[in-house]
Amino acid sequence: MATVDISTKILNVKLTNPTILASGIVGISGAACCYAAKNGAGAIIPKSIGPREREGHNNPILVEFKGGFLNAVGLPNAGIDNSLGEIEFAMKNAGVPVIPSIFGGTKEEFGMVAEKMATLKPQLIEVNLSCPNTGSDFGEAFALNAKEAADVIRIVKSKTKVPIIAKLAPNVPSIKKIAKAVEEAGADAISAINTMPGMVIDVKTAKPVLHNKQGGVSGHAIKPIAVNCIYDIYEAVKIPIIGMGGVTTGEDAVEMIMAGAVAVEIGTAIYYRGIDVFRKVSDEIKQFMEENSYGRISDMIGIAHK
Ligand SMILES: Cc1cc2nc3c(=O)[nH]c(=O)nc-3n(C[C@H](O)[C@H](O)[C@H](O)COP(=O)(O)O)c2cc1C
Repeated sequence: MATVDISTKILNVKLTNPTILASGIVGISGAACCYAAKNGAGAIIPKSIGPREREGHNNPILVEFKGGFLNAVGLPNAGIDNSLGEIEFAMKNAGVPVIPSIFGGTKEEFGMVAEKMATLKPQLIEVNLSCPNTGSDFGEAFALNAKEAADVIRIVKSKTKVPIIAKLAPNVPSIKKIAKAVEEAGADAISAINTMPGMVIDVKTAKPVLHNKQGGVSGHAIKPIAVNCIYDIYEAVKIPIIGMGGVTTGEDAVEMIMAGAVAVEIGTAIYYRGIDVFRKVSDEIKQFMEENSYGRISDMIGIAHK
C-alpha cells in the first residue's frame, strides 16, 4: 500500500501532522510549549496573552468529573509586554509553528495586544474571543455576539498583516452566524470550540467546587458539541477551520476532520494520555488512514458533508 501522508496546511502554514497544542493547557512558558512540540505536536499555541498582568482566579481552579474537566483559571498571564520574550523563545526553539493566542477586555485592547504580538512576526495569531467584554454592561464574552466578535476581528486586522484565527465559543444560538460575521470581518481562519459553561457542586458541602463557582467544561463531554459546531461552521464559511474539544484519540481527530477541520487542537487529553498524546494521536490517525485507504488528510476534510 502507498504510504500515508498526515501533513496538513492552515492557509500557507504547513504542519507535519494535524495535532496542535491548545491554548492554556501547559501554561505560557516557552519551554513548556517546546516540550509539547518535542512530543509530536505539529504546532503549538501558548496560553492566551492579554494587555496587562493578571493573576487569575483563586484555587480550586480545576476539577475532574466523569466526562471531562471543569476549569475556571481566569486567564492568568504576565501581560503582553512581559510575555514577548517567552513567545520568542518558543518560536526559536519549538521547531514547529508557534501560534500566539491573544485576548483583551475591550476591542481596543485586542488591537493593542495584536499589534505588539505581530512584532514577533508569527505565522498566525489566534484571537481568543471567549473572554468577558469589560466595556459592556453584562461583561459577556465577545464570542457570544456576532457584532462584538466581528468588531474585534476588524480592529485586529487593522493592526496587523499576520493571518488571524478567530476562536469561537459553542454556547451560542447559531454558530453559523458568528462564523459568517468573523469571516466577513476579515478572519483568515476559525478555531472551535472553546470550553462550554458548566458547574460541579460538592453535595457534602452543598457548594460549587470551583472557587469561581462556574467554569468551562472540556474533554470527552464536549466532543459531540464540537463536531456539531465544526460541521455547521464548514457549511457557513470558506475559510479553514481548526477543530477542538475532547480530541483524545486518532479517531476523534478524524471525526473532526471529516466534519470539516484541517487540523485539531488538543488540550484536556494531555491529562489522560500524557504530553506525548500528540505523537500517539498522530500514529492513530496514520493507522486509521492505512486501514481505510485514505492517502492524505485532504482526502478526509469535510467528507461527512457528502
Ligand atoms: C485549564 C485550561 C485552561 C485554558 N486556557 C485557555 C486560554 O488561555 N485560552 C484559550 O483560548 N483557551 C483556553 N482553554 C480552552 C482550550 O484551549 C480548549 O479550547 C478547550 O479546553 C477544549 O479542548 P480540549 O477538550 O481538548 O481541552 C483552556 C482550557 C483548559 C482546560
